[in-house]
Amino acid sequence: MASDRSPQGTSVRSAAAQLGPPAKSNVSNGSEITFESTRFRQVLGHFCTGVAVVTALQRGQPIGLTVQSFASVSLVPPLVSFCPSKSSSSWPRIKASGAFCVNILKDAQEAVSRAFAAKDGDRFFNVSWRRTPETGSPLLEDALAWVDCRFQDQHDAGDHVIVVGRVVGLGAMEQGWPLLFYRGGYGHFTGPR
Ligand SMILES: Cc1cc2nc3c(=O)[nH]c(=O)nc-3n(C[C@H](O)[C@H](O)[C@H](O)COP(=O)(O)O)c2cc1C
Repeated sequence: MASDRSPQGTSVRSAAAQLGPPAKSNVSNGSEITFESTRFRQVLGHFCTGVAVVTALQRGQPIGLTVQSFASVSLVPPLVSFCPSKSSSSWPRIKASGAFCVNILKDAQEAVSRAFAAKDGDRFFNVSWRRTPETGSPLLEDALAWVDCRFQDQHDAGDHVIVVGRVVGLGAMEQGWPLLFYRGGYGHFTGPR
């Protein structure tokens, strides 16, 4: 949830080449062990993830942010999670709506990922969406898959929170490949071996 999320380029190779020198700030885990925060991000960035946009509708206004921290948690009952930063401006509003939809992006949706991670601008500009049948949260056009949730729980986790959602609806495209994020850059899955 805290790996390097600042896209440095359009390919995994260029992102890897752009890893800079470590920052001055240290991270302490509460014991004697300390390490550079940049080192933490650099190493954790080796865990390749998909990319999702978590959306909600609050008082008729669509809200959304890009996340890579989405995970499947439990089958019975069906639970998923994601980890918004405590500095997220969207999360308190999503929580207030009581529900959210996790839109898993496909490889052609890099621009959507960038738009929903941007600080400025209308994130829904140029993005078509409709309401999910169960919670009415925004389902983005062309999403590879979607998981519609009711807010279930929130756990404190350092500078982030762990959000647990109860899955009440879901769907997926028959075809398509996911957008990937690895070492601070976007990439594509070329198919199973
Ligand atoms: C690929 C990618 C993955 C991201 N994953 C997360 C995440 O899991 N949690 C998080 O808090 N921010 C994540 N971010 C950063 C947020 O999208 C970004 O900080 C956004 O501006 C937050 O908006 P908000 O303040 O409206 O919540 C990610 C960004 C990118 C590009």
